Order: sequence, then structure tokens, then C-alpha cells
Amino acid sequence: MFEKGFLGYPTTFMLDFVVCALVLVVPLILLSLWLVKFRRQYLAHKRLQIVLGVVLLAAVTAFEVDVQLVHGGWEKIVAKQNLEPAALAAKIAAVRPWLLVHLVFAITTPFLWVATTVLALKRFGANPVPGAHSKLHSTLGWASTVDITLTSVTGLLFYYVAFMK
Ligand code: HEM
Repeated sequence: MFEKGFLGYPTTFMLDFVVCALVLVVPLILLSLWLVKFRRQYLAHKRLQIVLGVVLLAAVTAFEVDVQLVHGGWEKIVAKQNLEPAALAAKIAAVRPWLLVHLVFAITTPFLWVATTVLALKRFGANPVPGAHSKLHSTLGWASTVDITLTSVTGLLFYYVAFMK
């Protein structure tokens, strides 16, 4: 069941699932920031950020287990395109730099996200309102937002060059 993707390219179910999650996360974060900045809905912002963090972490963990343990690495998924051996090697070499750029953002994002969330939960308390932690939280929050957005953009670019082109 999880062997094939559903977006019409020779991929896997989990790869397509994570691509969809990466596309959805950006507008949901924008919604969360609109809630906090323009509507002052601090509790709604807190809940949405926690749900997004938990869902993303679960999706990416399941995705990693699937790619590494079930499929034996992303190169094996590229091999589903049935290219000649030389063409396959050339494609893998050509798309690897795109993956490395994506990994810079994909690896730093969870650390920033967890730090932002844990500090916010500790320092804003159960009923969050602006206070002494606002300045640091804004800095961490915007850094997390930019990082996840770049994770999403570079992830989609990798998907395009590796599986659609
Ligand atoms: C990774 C998770 C989170 C991100 C990326 C994030 C992001 C942000 C950003 C960018 C702002 C500043 C908006 C502006 O420029 O005015 C903000 C404000 C705020 N956030 Fe978060 N947030 C996260 C989690 C949380 C959590 C878990 C809480 C509560 C425990 C929280 C409570 C607040 C509050 C109270 C403000 C308003 C601060 C103020 O206006 O002085 N946030 N958040």
C-alpha cells in the first residue's frame, strides 16, 4: 500500500504525504501568526503551533523510517524511474546538492522549533499573554518560521528535480 506515491510520479506514499504536509504547513503558520499579531488570539496561536509541531514531527519521523528502513534510501526511490545505470548515476549526482541544501534547513528547524516551543511553554505559562519573554520569543519564532519555510521550499525543489523532471 505504501509502495506507490499518489501525486502521479514514481515515488512512495510517505514521500508524497510529506510533500503535501510541507505545502500545507506554510499557510497554517501564516494563519497562526495572523492570529497572534492581528487578532491577539494568543491561546489559539499556542495550540496551533503545538499541533503543527507534533504533526510535523510524527510525519517526518514516519517518513524517515519509511525512506531509510523500508526503501533503503532516496537513491532507491530515484531508481524507480528505470533509467539506464549511467543515467541513474548522473541523475543522483546532479540532485544530491539540492538535497544537501534542503538538509541544512530540515535539520536545524526541529531544534529551533523545540527551543521556541519549550521556552514559550515555560515562560508564557498556561494562559499566554505578551510579557518579559516576548522579545526573545519573537526572535526565535521568526527564525523558526523562516527555517520551516526554507525547509518547505527546498524540499519541494528537491522533489521537483529528483522525481518530476
Ligand atoms: C515553534 C512554535 C512557535 C512559533 C514559530 C511562534 C512564532 C511566533 C512569532 C513569530 C511571534 C511574533 C509575532 C509578531 O511579530 O508580532 C509570536 C508571538 C507570540 N507567541 Fe508564538 N510561536 C510559537 C509557539 C508559541 C507557544 C507554544 C506559545 C505559548 C505558550 C506562544 C505564545 C506567543 C505569544 C504570547 C506571542 C505574543 C508576544 C507579543 O506580542 O508580545 N507561541 N509567536
